Amino acid sequence: MTKQYDVAVIGAGAAGMMCAAVAGQRGKKVILIDHATKLAEKIRISGGGRCNFTNIGAGPQHFLSQNPHFCKSALSRYTPQDFINLLKRYRIGYHEKHKGQLFCNDSAEQIISMLKAECDLGNVTWRMPCSVASIVKEGELFRISTAAGDVLANNVVIATGGLSIPKIGATDFAYRIARQFDVKLVESRPALVPLTFEASGWQPYLPLAGIALPVEVEAGEKKMRGHFKEDLLFTHRGLSGPAILQISSFWQPQQALNVNLLPEHDVAETLIAEKSTIKKNLGNVFSQWLPNRLALGILEANGFDPAARIADMPDKQLKKLGDAVNRWPITPNGSEGYRKAEVTLGGIDTRELSQQSMAVNRIPGLHFIGEAVDVTGWLGGYNFQWAWASGTATGLSL
Ligand code: FDA
Repeated sequence: MTKQYDVAVIGAGAAGMMCAAVAGQRGKKVILIDHATKLAEKIRISGGGRCNFTNIGAGPQHFLSQNPHFCKSALSRYTPQDFINLLKRYRIGYHEKHKGQLFCNDSAEQIISMLKAECDLGNVTWRMPCSVASIVKEGELFRISTAAGDVLANNVVIATGGLSIPKIGATDFAYRIARQFDVKLVESRPALVPLTFEASGWQPYLPLAGIALPVEVEAGEKKMRGHFKEDLLFTHRGLSGPAILQISSFWQPQQALNVNLLPEHDVAETLIAEKSTIKKNLGNVFSQWLPNRLALGILEANGFDPAARIADMPDKQLKKLGDAVNRWPITPNGSEGYRKAEVTLGGIDTRELSQQSMAVNRIPGLHFIGEAVDVTGWLGGYNFQWAWASGTATGLSL
């Protein structure tokens, strides 16, 4: 006989496990289904193996969405402190690394074990590894056909995440189910991802691969413009590092990034004001401010002779140099794609969902949570906070 559950959660990642645990502990009969052989791979590999599980300052302003107000309700009902309290109950040590980012002292595995234990407290039934062939609405119920037989459920929660890192099991399952039920989607694209440049244009910067430095970077359109002060890393194919990962979520194809390679110095102003007193040549002055290889690389890429005496240079030339350093306009030709992206921008259109329960307004019982939804956090623990908060919101609503 086909087994019936109050809730079937598809996807046992961050949001799915949280949702299953909360619903189970409230007495709901829950089944959690995932096609992967290893549990919660994204948590395991996150934060370099230590999982940047939240950010103490997380708020709606740290998320991108076509509907920026949508995330407010869930985020305010399950805060970073709530997740910290859960960690404390399991005696998991953590520390703050940078700008409010919290990491496990030991291992991301501790978060996975904790969520598994929370599911066990809620008597959650596991079906894993197990693929899902289809979900069909039958009257008030959903019939979920899986490799291990059919399941009936009053509620289905789709927590299968986004498209990033297909090699560890990411699929477009959530989007396919959305299309099947006529739920609108916001176009998706890779985010928190290194940016690439056309090979011949990038040639002058190839010798700079491996150099990292603090920069200010800006991109995006008026409505969604990003501005970050973080580290940038030169790579063989383009730019990476936290500054670039952050700005990649705001960058639109064909747009230029505006990079300030020396945020603490206005190069043109300093050079013009002190021109007559500077004895050193251009290369020497720049090497005081920037890593030597980068200083020479930037001068050469912009056609300046490092041996030129600053005192002899016209102000117009110094202004041009200032622009090249303080307002470097550089246009990526793309990104490293879902293979390297930490998250997927876009997804289920939040205008279709209830802020309270993440249920599709028109289809009672069908819910979407976590990264599958068009709510994308900045780099720094925000995406997991959304997974915990949206999972809890649904878990409490069932
Ligand atoms: P998640 O991807 O966690 O889970 C989805 C689950 O659904 C998976 O278990 C998958 O196997 C399953 N699934 C998919 N398709 C299925 C199908 N067709 N049938 C059945 N099951 C299916 N965020 C952060 O806040 N701090 C951090 O430190 C990091 N670090 C980080 C590093 C790397 C390398 C990546 C790729 C990502 C991060 N992130 C992050 C982002 C974070 O991992 C991500 O936002 C959350 O895991 C999203 O949680 P979800 O539960 O929505 O999806």
